[in-house]
Amino acid sequence: MTYLRNCWYAAAYCTDVGTKPFARQILGEHIAFFRTSDGVVHGLEDRCPHRFAPLSLGAVVEDQIQCPYHGLRFGPDGACTFNPHYSAIPAAAKVKSYALIERYGLIWIWMGDQPAEETRLPADFAFMADAKFRAVSGYLRVEGNYQLIVDNLLDLTHAPYLHPAFAIPGISAEERLKRTTTELVREPERVIAKRWRLACPPNGPTRNLFGFTDELMDSRAHMHWLPPSLIFFDAGASRLNEAEELGLCLPAMHAITPETDRASHYFFAQGRNMLLDDPHADEELLGILENAFHNEDEPMIAAQQARMGRETDVMALDPVLLKSDSAPVTARRILAGMIAAEQQR
Ligand code: FES
Ligand SMILES: [Fe+2]
Repeated sequence: MTYLRNCWYAAAYCTDVGTKPFARQILGEHIAFFRTSDGVVHGLEDRCPHRFAPLSLGAVVEDQIQCPYHGLRFGPDGACTFNPHYSAIPAAAKVKSYALIERYGLIWIWMGDQPAEETRLPADFAFMADAKFRAVSGYLRVEGNYQLIVDNLLDLTHAPYLHPAFAIPGISAEERLKRTTTELVREPERVIAKRWRLACPPNGPTRNLFGFTDELMDSRAHMHWLPPSLIFFDAGASRLNEAEELGLCLPAMHAITPETDRASHYFFAQGRNMLLDDPHADEELLGILENAFHNEDEPMIAAQQARMGRETDVMALDPVLLKSDSAPVTARRILAGMIAAEQQR
């Protein structure tokens, strides 16, 4: 499978990596992450060039990673720095070193051969460092191709069927879809799938967690897709004729990274502009999201992938397309174009 490579992928939470090596597979490549004593994070190819042992099973010794098998050591740039076997260091004794950056509580990795460009990291997730918001975050591994997760997020028409906790009391799934207006905004490297409902009673979490009752609210759920597989979710609800920013604002980050062509890393962070000093709300909110993602979305995506068999591109199976597929299909086309352009270079 070909991926977009000259871009940043979320690799791990900053807190996942310390001075003990941390292994993760990204775009099919095995990588060993570790920190040196100055706190800087590094990522090396997780395969010793001697007998191909995973370096991540070794230890960090004097700011180098030491192979667990015969003790060669490699520095942050991937070059072998120490050979304990009474001979010179062979010229070929080196591993690939990856460019990393820490931002928004995550370690991001650049998988391409062009120089890493810090500016290619989207600014949309600034809410994570904004005192107006408090955020909770989570991770799950999904047994499915990364684009199936993007499809899922860009087409929220699944919510009334797959996520009963988000129901609006007294309004059926069909009625809820009928009362939702949608708009697709296409930009050169962004797709925005906008959805809003005017003058509707609030859904389950808006009531139970944030204390809104039966008053009518205008709600929005706008998904901004950024290539290759990042989503800024601008969601919220406000009282009628109230400015959006004065109501409930729930900005979220969804960062999806292919592990292989049939499994993905899914990092998510959910911000809120209410109940800022309430750790109990952190738990509640995380519980609602984890239930939806772990117990509802993930098993569905894994089941889809299983039915697709070895195929990883849903479009290759000639699927029936509905109007609600326009956003995911547009995003897929833009990404395919970017991958093709990158391959030609
Ligand atoms: S396999 Fe790494 S030193 Fe031998
Ligand atoms: Fe979902």
